[in-house]
Amino acid sequence: MSHIIVIFGISGDLSKRKLLPALYHLVRMDLLPNDTKIVGITRQDISVNSLINTDSICSLEPDHLCDTEALKRFQQMLDVFKMDLVDPGDYQKLASYLQKIESSHGKAMNRLIYLSIPPQVFGPIVRNLGESGLNKPSESAKFCHLLVEKPFGYDATSARELIAVVDQYFSESQVYRIDHYLAKETAQNILAFRFNNPIFESIWDSKHVKQITVTATESIGIEGRTIFYEQTGALRDLIQSHLLQLLSMVTMEKPISSSSGDVHKAKVELLRSIEPIRPDAVEQQSIRGQYYSYRHEVNNQKSISETYAALKLEINNNRWRGTPIYIQTGKGLAEKRTSIQLVFSNDDSQNNTLTFNLQPQESIEIDLRVKRPGYGTQIETTKMDFHYERSFAKGESPDAYERVLVDALNGDSTLFATRDEVMATWDIIESVVQNWQNTEKGLAFYKKGTDADDLIKALSVVPS
Ligand code: BG6
Repeated sequence: MSHIIVIFGISGDLSKRKLLPALYHLVRMDLLPNDTKIVGITRQDISVNSLINTDSICSLEPDHLCDTEALKRFQQMLDVFKMDLVDPGDYQKLASYLQKIESSHGKAMNRLIYLSIPPQVFGPIVRNLGESGLNKPSESAKFCHLLVEKPFGYDATSARELIAVVDQYFSESQVYRIDHYLAKETAQNILAFRFNNPIFESIWDSKHVKQITVTATESIGIEGRTIFYEQTGALRDLIQSHLLQLLSMVTMEKPISSSSGDVHKAKVELLRSIEPIRPDAVEQQSIRGQYYSYRHEVNNQKSISETYAALKLEINNNRWRGTPIYIQTGKGLAEKRTSIQLVFSNDDSQNNTLTFNLQPQESIEIDLRVKRPGYGTQIETTKMDFHYERSFAKGESPDAYERVLVDALNGDSTLFATRDEVMATWDIIESVVQNWQNTEKGLAFYKKGTDADDLIKALSVVPS
C-alpha cells in the first residue's frame, strides 16, 4: 500500500538536518515507493525548491553528491501545505487536501503524521488532529501512525499531561515516540552483543562491573537553536531521552523474546528500578555547567540553562545494586563522542573496559592487559576491537532517521519509546529538573573545547 507522510515542522532545523536528507536517501535507495506523497506543513511561505536546495539534502550520499534523477523523483513527491497550526479550520482544509491526494491516486493511502514541532504547540496540534478526524486512517487504509519527536514535555507533570492528550485521540499502538539514538546501529547491537556472546553473560553484574559511564558529548554549540535550548538544556535534551534509553539497553534483563512488546517490558522494568534522585541528594548526584559564550549567544546574561549535565545513578535491583552509573552530556566540548563504557575489575583493581562507541566511529572495544614483548614482564594495556567499517561494507547501515521512518511505516515499534518508558525516565530526573530551574547554585562555567572527562571528575568518578 502507498503512503502519505505529513510532516509538521518541515522548515525546522531537524527537518533540514536529518529528516529531508533521510527521506531523499530512502528515495535514492528505492526504499520509498515512487507513489509516496510527502506533505510538509508550514506557517511560512516556502517552496518545495527552497526545501530541496539546502547544503544538507544529500549529506547521506558518498561525498555529499546528489543523484539528479533521484532528487527529481524526491521533488515530485514533496508538497508544501501552508496552515495556521492552532486554527481548527485549517485542519479541516488539510483533511480535504489529503483526501484529494488519495482520490487522485486512485486508492487509499496509509498515513504517517510526523510532529517535529516545539513542545508548546504539541498539545494543540494533537487535539486538532483528533478533532478533525486526522487521527484515523482513511477508509480502507490500514493505518494512521503518529510519529513524535522529543522532548515529550518539560518535566514529569507536563509529560503526563501530553501523554494524556495523545491517549485521548490515538491508541498507544499508533504512536511512535522517536529516540533516534536507539536507531543507531551500535545501539541496536547492544542487545545482540550481550545475548549472543556467552563469555559476557556471567560477568554482567555488580560483582564484576565496578562502574558504567554513558557519555554523549558534542563539540558544536547550540547552533542558533536559542529558544529551544533556553527551554530545554542538556539534561532534558539528551539525558531524559537518549542516554537513559541507552543505559536501559546495557543493563536490562534478557527479554523473553525479541518481540517489540517483550523488549519494552524488560526495558521499562529496568528504568523503573533506577533510583529516582531524591530532592536532598541533587547536589551529590548531579553537576551542571554552561560554556562561557552561551549567555552571549542566547542574549540572556542571566540564563541558567545548562550546556553540560552529569548524573550519578544507581540501579536498585539484584543484578546492579552497588555499581555506580555515570551519565554525562554537553555541547561545546572537546569532541563529538557517544559511548557506553563498562569497567570490569577484580579485587586487585585490575581493570578491563568494554566500550560501545556509537560516534564518531561505530565500534566495540575491549581494553586488555598484555605482556609487552621482550625480556621483561611489563604489563601494558592494548585494545581488541570490532569496527563496522572494517568488518562490513560501507553503506550497510541505514542512517538513524532512515531507520526510524522505515520502521514507523512498517509498524515496528521496537526502537521507539513507549509512554511508560518516557514517564519512568522523567521520574528519575524530576527533582534535578525542578532544582536546576529554580536556582543558579552549582552552575559552573567552562571554556569551549573542555574535555568532558575533566568536568565529570566533580562527581568523583572512580578512575579506570
Ligand atoms: C538531538 C538533540 O536529539 O540530538 C540535539 O536535540 C543533538 O541537541 C542531537 O545535537 C545529536 O544527535 P546526533 O545523532 O548528531 O548525535
